[in-house]
Amino acid sequence: MDKLRIIGGRPLNGEVTISGAKNAALPELCATLLTAEPVTLTNVPRLRDVATMRLLLDNMGVQSETHGERGGMSFQAPDSLKPEAPYELVKTMRASVLVLGPLLARFGRARVSLPGGCAIGSRPVDQHIKGMQAMGAEILVEHGYMVAQLPAGKTRLHGARIATDMITVTGTENFLMAAALAEGETLLENAAQEPEITDLAEMLIAMGAKIEGHGTSRIHIQGVDRLRGCTHQVVADRIEAGTFLCAVAATGGDVILRHARAEHLDAVIDKLHDAGAEIEAGDDFIRVRASGRLKAQSFRTTEYPGFPTDMQAQFMALNCIATGSSKVTETIFENRFMHVNELVRLGAKIQTDGKVAVVEGTDKLSGAIVMATDLRASASLVIAGLVAEGETIVDRIYHLDRGYDQMEAKLRGIGADIERIK
Ligand code: EPZ
Repeated sequence: MDKLRIIGGRPLNGEVTISGAKNAALPELCATLLTAEPVTLTNVPRLRDVATMRLLLDNMGVQSETHGERGGMSFQAPDSLKPEAPYELVKTMRASVLVLGPLLARFGRARVSLPGGCAIGSRPVDQHIKGMQAMGAEILVEHGYMVAQLPAGKTRLHGARIATDMITVTGTENFLMAAALAEGETLLENAAQEPEITDLAEMLIAMGAKIEGHGTSRIHIQGVDRLRGCTHQVVADRIEAGTFLCAVAATGGDVILRHARAEHLDAVIDKLHDAGAEIEAGDDFIRVRASGRLKAQSFRTTEYPGFPTDMQAQFMALNCIATGSSKVTETIFENRFMHVNELVRLGAKIQTDGKVAVVEGTDKLSGAIVMATDLRASASLVIAGLVAEGETIVDRIYHLDRGYDQMEAKLRGIGADIERIK
């Protein structure tokens, strides 16, 4: 199992290129199921989760190939495809549920394993099922699988008005993909507004879908009979960018993030600015400068455009070595404080009580062996290790590899003393 070895205390200076967004690439790989024509995605990040999704599609019979160093990947989903997502693959990546909408929309049937829980929470898919049923699918849950089909005599899903019990990112994405080929109109009432939703909608529109309102809470889709192939560039990863912003704010330094989109990170940038970091942005870069201890910032995670839950652990690491105390409230997932105990091993002063963590800023952390538990917790431990005195070993970094494209190489490129130990 790979580990990261970090010697803390060095400022970060230079330039980093932000990769394509994991949470856009995953639904967009699934969108290739919606047509028999070739689809090309560029700027696809090299991540474990993308490799897993590609394996899942390959397992169904989708042909795919990578080309060029710019993260190019082409897909072709033939009519003779096996619309199944087996447990062995789905259990390693919840996002596999994103094949449900496209498979039902194009093939009228799907057999998708239930994802099971994950480290950060139970994360059920009941809203996905509810939306598909609203569009006419019959879904049975048996032997750990969702077995979905259209009623006898029906060859297509039909449009529907869908209002979910809570805002769901992949739920919204499943509905978008299903509605694109459904008969008639679909209205998503409380849709997620994340930039990855907008990016997926733009890809679907390039394939011939009729979608309006993406990026707002009400999305209107007019179903079409067929979708064609397209070439689409995956939007830059705002969470990777936010992670690097927090790292530089914590260690001090001056870094330019290429391809980062500041307008996708307003809530995080506002908090970093209030903490005392200097942030400058153009339409294709963000520059962050910081020196000395910043001021701790309280925040609560909410759906986009609020403070993203995927940035909670990383900003908490910054709060650990900032001045003053801060209160972090996690409103999206019920168990997303697993990084807390590991940060405490590095000398952080944190108390949690349910959804709230109170952090007392300290002027130093000291290196130790810590264990990654989930993707963003791993990033939080790396940030803390970059600041801690002495050596920090972050174990189980396969979690990190799920969502960060060559993180240690990018950090080394801006001056960090970090290496991967096999
Ligand atoms: C997406 O997960 C992201 N993953 C997550 O990123 C992110 O943390 C999350 O959205 C919230 O922003 C991808 O996009 C692949 P939700 P998703 O459905 O869609 C509950 C990362 O670090 N819910 O918006 O699974 C759910 O339990 C990952 O990159 C139901 O109860 O999240 C949660 O409490 C982690 N029933 C809340 O809604 C449902 O059917 C929001 O979940 C669906 C969701």
